[in-house]
Amino acid sequence: MNVYIRGIGTYLPEKIVSNHDLAKQIDTSDEWIWSRTGIRERRIAAEGEHASTMGKRAAEEAIRNAGLSPDDIDLLVVATMTPDFLFPSTAAVLQAQLGLRNVPAFDISAACSGFLYGLEVTRHLLQSGTYRNALLVGTEKLSSVLDWQDRSTCVLFGDGAGAVVLSQGATGIIDVLLAADGSNPDILYMPGGGSRMPATEASVAHRDHFLKMNGREVFKVAVRAMEQSIRDILDRNSININDIRYFIAHQANYRILDALAQRLSVPMEKFPVNVDRVGNTSAASIPLIMKEMVDDGRLKSGDNVVLVAFGAGLTWGTSLLKWKDSREMP
Ligand code: UT7
Repeated sequence: MNVYIRGIGTYLPEKIVSNHDLAKQIDTSDEWIWSRTGIRERRIAAEGEHASTMGKRAAEEAIRNAGLSPDDIDLLVVATMTPDFLFPSTAAVLQAQLGLRNVPAFDISAACSGFLYGLEVTRHLLQSGTYRNALLVGTEKLSSVLDWQDRSTCVLFGDGAGAVVLSQGATGIIDVLLAADGSNPDILYMPGGGSRMPATEASVAHRDHFLKMNGREVFKVAVRAMEQSIRDILDRNSININDIRYFIAHQANYRILDALAQRLSVPMEKFPVNVDRVGNTSAASIPLIMKEMVDDGRLKSGDNVVLVAFGAGLTWGTSLLKWKDSREMP
């Protein structure tokens, strides 16, 4: 059974924080951030906004754009590394906020690869025939886990949400290829707050409840893993790399996109970029840029598109899509 993206929606918080704003608070500069990452500014959630409330805004738009109502949704999957709570799941919270029926709702924890992990799980559940329309939401309030005294990480991330409605019907998602290697989890992680290190005065004083990253290591593995993953998915579907219209990659760093494009010998025009305006929004990253491309007409029915992401875990993945404009659906 074929599964396609029937509607897409996004939400970005209003507050824009530029590199110049950050340079007033920590020892950094617009020049350093721009030249090392390609980021100029990011959005930061307001007081009272969190993963579920941002996800709600994106999801409502996705349902509307799919031409459906909340009653039509029969499965909800949320990808996030910044859930409202450790439990219950953000998906459960969102089920009620959206006024969905009592449909199954659960979270996926795969950090920046979460949207692709969600895509794989959701499409198979739809293909099983049990569900007809699924809502997949990537939503992140990364500002809540950033150490605003650590210039090597806090300048990189932003908040936001993106959502898609996936439905049975047309050809859309052709394949998904996922991978994980957890042998070095501390390359990108948050040490405190889980069952291994519950919150104590010492863990708080030690700033263990914030994201930690070995950026250089992540950079190296990210480029290699994404390149191989793209080559593998194209190989197993017998598609020539030149027949791919766009490589919609997780927006972590412009230099990662550039290195990936070079290794694949693909012109940079095929790698859309919005990291300059939103920073790294983890699980929200791919739907955020896809929505821009739908709105400005870059994505056209029939385009072969590759999605690719990489994140904490380490996890990574790729998906091959045949883009289907839902406005053309009967
Ligand atoms: O979704 C996946 C998430 N993770 C990533 O995408 C991260 C991938 N890694 C990267 O994007 C890059 O490694 C970074 C952007 C994080 C860092 O760039 P880099 O070129 O690898 O820089 P570096 O970490 O090697 O640091 C170079 C210098 C250091 O100073 P010294 O030791 O050479 O004197 C840092 O202290 O830059 C300094 N530095 C900064 N300077 C100004 C680090 N952060 C900053 C900063 N402003 N914000």
